[in-house]
Amino acid sequence: MAAIPAPTNLRCEYADRPRGIVAPRPRFSWNLQPSYRGQEQVAYQILVSTDADSMDSGVGDAWDSGRVESPDMVNIPYEGIPLGSDCRYYFRVRWWDGNGNESPFSDVSTFETALLEEEDWVAAWISMADAGTFPSRINTMVNGLREDSPQYFGIYLRHEFSPGNSVKRARIFVSGLGFYELRLNGQKVGNRLMDPAQTDYREIALYSTYDATDLLKEGTNAIGLLLGNGRHIEAYGFEKPRGIVQLAIEYADGQKDLIVSSDQWLASHGPLMENGLYYGECYDGRKEMTGWDEPGFDASAWHRAESVSGPGLASQTMPPIRATDTLRAGSLTRPKPGVYVFDFRQNLTGWARLFVSGPAGTTVTLRFAELLDDKGMLSLATLGGAEVTDTYTLKGGSEEVFEPRFTYHGFRYAEITGFPGVPAIENLEAIFIHSDVSKVGDFHCSNSLVNKIHRNTLWGQLSNLMSVPTDCPQRGERMGWMGDAQLAAEESFYNFDMIRFYEKYLNDIRFAQKDDGSLSDVVPPYWPLYPADPAWGSAYITIAWFCYFFCADKRIIEDHFDTMKRYIDFLAASADGYIIKTLGKYSDWCPPGSVVPKSTPVELTSTWYFYNDTLLLSRMAGILGKRKDSQSLSDLGDKIKSAFNETFLEGSRYATIQNGPLTRGSAGQTSQALPLYLDMVPEDKKKNALRRLVDAVVRVNDSHVDTGIVGTRYLFDVLTTNGHAETAYRVATQRTYPGWGYMIEEGATTLWERWESLAGGGMNSHNHIMLGSIDAWFYRTIAGLSPLEAGWKSVCIRPYLMGDLTHATASVKTVRGKVHVSWEKGDEGLRLAVFLPVGCRGEVHIPVSGPDVALLETGAVIWENGKVLGETQGVSTVDMGTDSLCVTIGSGHYTFELR
Ligand code: BGC
Repeated sequence: MAAIPAPTNLRCEYADRPRGIVAPRPRFSWNLQPSYRGQEQVAYQILVSTDADSMDSGVGDAWDSGRVESPDMVNIPYEGIPLGSDCRYYFRVRWWDGNGNESPFSDVSTFETALLEEEDWVAAWISMADAGTFPSRINTMVNGLREDSPQYFGIYLRHEFSPGNSVKRARIFVSGLGFYELRLNGQKVGNRLMDPAQTDYREIALYSTYDATDLLKEGTNAIGLLLGNGRHIEAYGFEKPRGIVQLAIEYADGQKDLIVSSDQWLASHGPLMENGLYYGECYDGRKEMTGWDEPGFDASAWHRAESVSGPGLASQTMPPIRATDTLRAGSLTRPKPGVYVFDFRQNLTGWARLFVSGPAGTTVTLRFAELLDDKGMLSLATLGGAEVTDTYTLKGGSEEVFEPRFTYHGFRYAEITGFPGVPAIENLEAIFIHSDVSKVGDFHCSNSLVNKIHRNTLWGQLSNLMSVPTDCPQRGERMGWMGDAQLAAEESFYNFDMIRFYEKYLNDIRFAQKDDGSLSDVVPPYWPLYPADPAWGSAYITIAWFCYFFCADKRIIEDHFDTMKRYIDFLAASADGYIIKTLGKYSDWCPPGSVVPKSTPVELTSTWYFYNDTLLLSRMAGILGKRKDSQSLSDLGDKIKSAFNETFLEGSRYATIQNGPLTRGSAGQTSQALPLYLDMVPEDKKKNALRRLVDAVVRVNDSHVDTGIVGTRYLFDVLTTNGHAETAYRVATQRTYPGWGYMIEEGATTLWERWESLAGGGMNSHNHIMLGSIDAWFYRTIAGLSPLEAGWKSVCIRPYLMGDLTHATASVKTVRGKVHVSWEKGDEGLRLAVFLPVGCRGEVHIPVSGPDVALLETGAVIWENGKVLGETQGVSTVDMGTDSLCVTIGSGHYTFELR
């Protein structure tokens, strides 16, 4: 037996050594690294133990799976003794390959459980009695813009305690609504920002778990908790900020202590005054209370905290918001005396860090915007009423550093007024802040415009992950619009480790569901907009599907199946003869030259999503073994399809609204593309329906999009898979209006909400993600990389060599490990390199124009002039398709050359 490398990248519930695990049967995953070919895992063994020592000696006292004959390495559920609350477990894995080789055990990894029982929470929610308020401007959507919505000044809470000696382990569980900052003995605990993740606080609040073992000291200790408004505000139906803290200490002798928030804690206001998500933040350095979060502080002016009610708590398992980058401005201008504008050359989400020194009492004001006006001043036009103003009042003395905590801005430009003296570039930094999902995808190709679109998509995507998927980060909105979220979902899975983010979001959606099954366009429903437009409501089913498809997460679709079904039942009950006439509101939103759909009937889009969601759910029912549900959903789908064609199809043309439904004239891109995408077009009309679509793209719109956000998501796939890849590529790489290239020519560094270059107000954000759906198409067609079976168990490699492309490369760190493809077109022919990890098979489609070619694999000819000449290790079949050679491969590195 040869030695094979141990499993690597051990994860529990998708995370590396997580805390706060709530699942009673958490799932384990690992990767297998060897680069040798065609290898499968045939068996594995998992050991889980309650202490490090038994793990070291190879004993799984909590669970020993024994040798399990299985190729699975993704989401293997724990089957051991019941897990305790707030406990740490150790685990390791080994595997056997197909040649009978056994690996050593992996390095030890760990996971920690959350507070699993409700009774585990002893702490009380607390706040400050008679907390002061300030008025702010909040759009409630349903009741409109309120100019006087009260929010609260920053609330400071503190408590001193003395733990015993020899602390072995300490964990702090904390939540604070809207946002908190936790401090212990003068230090901020952890690096989370704007925590906890936003939820509907009527339903649930999330808490985070920190390791406090090394932060405790002998003698007196002090905890400080600072609370800000976030979205826990009266305009959305909530009361003043509140927090809850529970510190669990375990001593070397096994004794335990609990330090919990109660009305014995003390409360005060302090230097952090006004703070609001849209408002900004005001901090008065002169009011600083040095040592407020340390023992020995004179808190005689503070008052008893007030115990208040609070929502139920759940452990936050999604990645927290963090600062991930710091940008220095590229230029600094002075458009007016005393007004300084920093250009960070990148539209982004976050805030600015100010370095300043000057006389006490000087107030420096910072404002933020995406655009400048023609005088070089900030243009606040795209901010939709958000005040976005941070002020810092100096305490005086040496250099002072200010950055806010409970607000964020979407900006490229920052303006300083009131600065003592003349600021330099170094006086302000932009801090990039977002839900810290790790990057898993990489894409690059020979077309620099495509690379720029990809880059803008990445900035736009991260800018719109703020514990919920937002539509935009700058204006008085920043809501979880589900349409935007579902359209970007696939792109986001290619680029980032999204699973835990969406796992939480799907729970938000479930919480938002009404008894009749309806959903809100915005989730969490701070703007309760019921019932959702079907293109928006589709997020529930679409995102759940992608969670399954990209990560093989069956549990998600199982947990949400009944409620997703209830949503389909709601759509069915709302339909009239299977046509949805009443629910659509936005539909193919923001096509060129318009906010509302221009040529696509709202009923067509709504009904199409009804069909799409019904089919997806039928598939998920099949995967879960729910045969009856699967069948009845598929029957429902057939009925929707027939009604759809009866209502919207005339000849080979689907209805448009230019001149009323079903009038003659050219076809609409979205109207034609949607039914083609789901193969709804009757067989005898398909060719003509496609011809009309191509005509609508090429002739009528001179190879430009004429689609809103919905049509844009599907148009490119329809063209590519139906023999019009060149057209798709031409449209995607246009530099003239409308198109992504046009945005870039106009200086965009993120993606816009509208196809137009607009400087005015209204619907005009310069950082929306919904048109980022094109990026998934880059991965799938330009690089040619897509999952074929759930969790990347098999992969399709099918590059389309379109237009001027000479090379492309992409990789994705999947749940099974990194998958990589790169190709290059040279004088000799095409060279295609692929890497697949163990547990992953590939179907490689190599484009060929005729039969008189030879295919080499790592130098050996395996196919020539229509004949299979041989197979190299790992290659199992070579077949000639209509326009490509199809090669089936197992794990490992392969290099194909087509000559
Ligand atoms: C948001 C969109 C959203 C839309 C719904 C807008 O204000 O920014 O992206 O989906 O409303 O109509």
